[in-house]
Amino acid sequence: MTARPYVLGIDIGTSGVRVLAVSQEDGQVIRTATCDITSDSPQSGWSEQHPADWWTATCSAIQQVLAAMELTSDSIAAIGLSGQMHGLIMLDENDAVLRPAILWNDQRTASECDEIHEAVGRDRLIQITGKPAMTGFTAPKILWVRNHEPKIYARAARILLPKDHVRLQLTGEHVMDVTDASGTSLLNLSERTWSDQLLQDLNLNPSILPRLAESSDIVGQITSEAAKETGLRAGTPVVAGAGDQAAGGIGCGISSHTACSLNLGTSGVIFAATPQCPHDPTGAMHGYCHAIPGHWHVMGVMLSAGGSLRWYRDVFEEGDAAGYDRIIEGAQRTVPGADGLSFLPYLTGERTPHANPAATGSFTGITNQHDRSHFARAVLEGIMFGLRDCLDLITNTGHQIDRIRMTGGGARSAFWRQMAADIFGCTITTVNVTDGSAYGAALLAMAGGGRFNSVTDAMNEFVRETAETRPSQDATLYPDIHERWRTLYPILAPTFGQQQSS
Ligand code: XUL
Repeated sequence: MTARPYVLGIDIGTSGVRVLAVSQEDGQVIRTATCDITSDSPQSGWSEQHPADWWTATCSAIQQVLAAMELTSDSIAAIGLSGQMHGLIMLDENDAVLRPAILWNDQRTASECDEIHEAVGRDRLIQITGKPAMTGFTAPKILWVRNHEPKIYARAARILLPKDHVRLQLTGEHVMDVTDASGTSLLNLSERTWSDQLLQDLNLNPSILPRLAESSDIVGQITSEAAKETGLRAGTPVVAGAGDQAAGGIGCGISSHTACSLNLGTSGVIFAATPQCPHDPTGAMHGYCHAIPGHWHVMGVMLSAGGSLRWYRDVFEEGDAAGYDRIIEGAQRTVPGADGLSFLPYLTGERTPHANPAATGSFTGITNQHDRSHFARAVLEGIMFGLRDCLDLITNTGHQIDRIRMTGGGARSAFWRQMAADIFGCTITTVNVTDGSAYGAALLAMAGGGRFNSVTDAMNEFVRETAETRPSQDATLYPDIHERWRTLYPILAPTFGQQQSS
C-alpha cells in the first residue's frame, strides 16, 4: 500500500459534479458524492450554466467524500478531472468570468458554423481537426460572442472548457488536455497542437488559448486557497484529465481496435479507439485525441438517447423512477418492429449521423392496433437504430468491432442490452465500472501519479468485463426493420430545417 492510498476522480457533468475516491491498491471505489447543477435555457435551443456553480458543487462533493472517508486529505495521492466537453467559458485578463458558459448542447451557432466553413473550407477543416464545425463545438461559440456580444468579446483574454475552469480554481493553471481540445474545432488533430492556420483564418488571437497537455501529465498542484475551500492537501498533484467521452473510454477499458463502447446517458455515444489519427473525408465520423498518448478515438454522438426515453417517460408515464420499469415491461410484451410503429429520436437536433441542429423527433406508422406498449418499444428501438447508424459510420471505415461494452444508465436494463445485441448484431458486455468518466479520471490520476507506468496498464489492471449478452433469434429480424426505419429521416428531413446531413 502506498503512503497515499487513494486518488480522486472528478467529473464536471451537465446535471451534476461527481467525485469518486478510488483505492490505488485494488481499484475499488471507496466513496462517492454528487452535487447537482442546473442549466438555463434563456432562449429556445440555448443551454447555459454558471461556472461558479461548478466550483460550489465541486468543493461540496470533495468535502463530502473526504468526510465520509474519515481520513485526512493526506491520503489522496493525486486528482484527475473529466467533464462535459465543448462548453465555452470566457475570462477577462484577471480571470473573471465574462458571461455564463455556453454548453455542448447549445444550438445557437448554425450561422457561425457556416462562417467557419467559408473562412477555412469545410474539407480543410475536416483535414485539420477531424470533423466539420458543429453547433455544440467551442470555436463557433467564440465567433457567436464576437458577432453578438462584441463588448464582451473585446474583454476576453482567455477561453477554457468546463473542467479546465475548475482546474484553474484548484491549481491556478490555465491548461487544457488534448482530448477536450479536440472538441474545440481549433486543434490540429494529428499533431495534437493548436492549429496556427485555423487561428489565422478565423482571426483569433492565439493568446486566448490555454497551454495543452496529454491527459495523464501532472499540470499543477492544489493551491493553499483551494485547499481551504475543498479540504484537500495543498500541493496535491492534479493531472490534465480528459473530456468526459475520452475519460469514459478509459473508465470502460477501450484502448484497442476491436472493442468499442456504447455510453447510454442523456446522449448516446459510440466510441472506438485507434493508434492512427482518424480521417473521414465526409466528416460524418468524428475524430478526437484519446487520453492515451499516441492514440485517437472516433465517436458518433446521438444528442437525445436516454434523453428521448426520459422525455417519453415524463410525458406518457408518471415521471417517477418506476416509469422506466413500466416502459421496459410494456416493450417486452410487443414484437421487434412494434407492429410498424417507428420513433425518430431527434428531439434536440442531431449530431451523428445527421448533422442537423434543426432535426426533430417523430412517431410514424400509428394505427388503432397500437397501444402504449408499442410506443414504448418504438422509443427503445428508435434510439438503438440511431446508435447503430453511428456504429456503421465507424465500421464502414475499416474498424472491426466484435464486442461492445455498454455503460451509462441504459446499460442497467437487461432487456435493452438484449435489444442492443440484436440490433447491433454483436455481443454486448457490461464492465465492473459504473461512473465511467469519473473512474477514467481516477485512472489517469493513478498513471500520472506514478502508481502505473501507463494509462493502459491502469485500465488493464482494474477494468473487467462482467455480464455478456449475445444476439438472439430476433437479430435476424432487425436488418429489415432497421432498413425501413432508415427511410424515414430523408422523407421527414425537408421539414427539419436548412442544415442537412453530410
Ligand atoms: C461529446 C458531447 C457530450 C458532452 C456532455 O462530444 O458533446 O458527451 O461531453 O457529456
